[in-house]
Amino acid sequence: MKRIGVLTSGGDAPGMNPCLRAVVRTALYREAEVIGVRQGFDGLIRGDMVPLRARDVGGILQRGGTFLQTARCPEFLEESGRRTALRILGKAGIEGLIVIGGDGSMRGAHALSVMGFPVVGVPASIDNDIWGTNMSLGVDTALNTIMDAVDKLRDTASSHQRAFLIETMGRHCGYLALMAGVICGAEVILIPEREVTLEEIAAAIKDAYARGKTHAIIVAAEGAPLKAPEVSNRLNGLRVGFDTRVTILGHVQRGGSPTAFDRMLATRMGVRSVECMLEGKVGTMVGLSGREIVPVPLPEVVGRTRQANIEYFEMARILAR
Ligand code: F6P
Repeated sequence: MKRIGVLTSGGDAPGMNPCLRAVVRTALYREAEVIGVRQGFDGLIRGDMVPLRARDVGGILQRGGTFLQTARCPEFLEESGRRTALRILGKAGIEGLIVIGGDGSMRGAHALSVMGFPVVGVPASIDNDIWGTNMSLGVDTALNTIMDAVDKLRDTASSHQRAFLIETMGRHCGYLALMAGVICGAEVILIPEREVTLEEIAAAIKDAYARGKTHAIIVAAEGAPLKAPEVSNRLNGLRVGFDTRVTILGHVQRGGSPTAFDRMLATRMGVRSVECMLEGKVGTMVGLSGREIVPVPLPEVVGRTRQANIEYFEMARILAR
């Protein structure tokens, strides 16, 4: 294979840049050219491409976001959009495509692969909801951002004897909220995988107050059945001891310099994705399994959502005493 394309797609994630660096430099070392596709599948359909040399990926190892930029592309969900993409890839002489992105991007990669085009995926999404890998790029950085924010909010919560409800990202998977709840000592954790009633939340907060705690922390995933502002309003009406405030962390979780863990994972996955492409292990996504980076068939990856490990839920409850 002489020419490989690479793109970043869907929501950005810290680690995409070091991954691009690893893809480009590994491919060049293996004597394959690399073409960067700007703005994900959307850019692919428009033919927005740029050749990437070693110097083009210099100075990006420590940068959040993706220098190739990204987009969500509804057109790629249609077969006609994918046919246009195949035409463009053929015209550009690109023989294989590396797709760095989240679950939607892996579905796009799979759809291209089903049409006969060699594709390798790299999982990148702060949500950690991609099946087939223990960790996706950006998760560790986002978790550190959340931890920092919750620690700060705890300071002000203690000073004012308040409860704070902090909403994290995570539409379908509560990984970020659950892990943040454990490492920040939350009294209550709300995630999509586990139903908790308002009465249970109120009882836990009242109990924390009665046990002499100076504050209470609730960490909620955005996809949890009960929504953060509603929970806060209801708690304030129920007189649970603490006054409750809400902080929605939002897109701040998607930015920032990748942590050491994310840089290493991004580098290893980037290198492995090129090796898989050149060895013909295509129609796969590189995933972290134990300590190894292994190719996982894309049909196994798509259509499933990785769920947060519910064992941590009980652990957090016991340790919040
Ligand atoms: O990348 C996944 C995610 O972070 C979700 O948790 C969140 O709901 C979504 O992206 C928001 O994405 P955007 O605002 O970029 O469409």
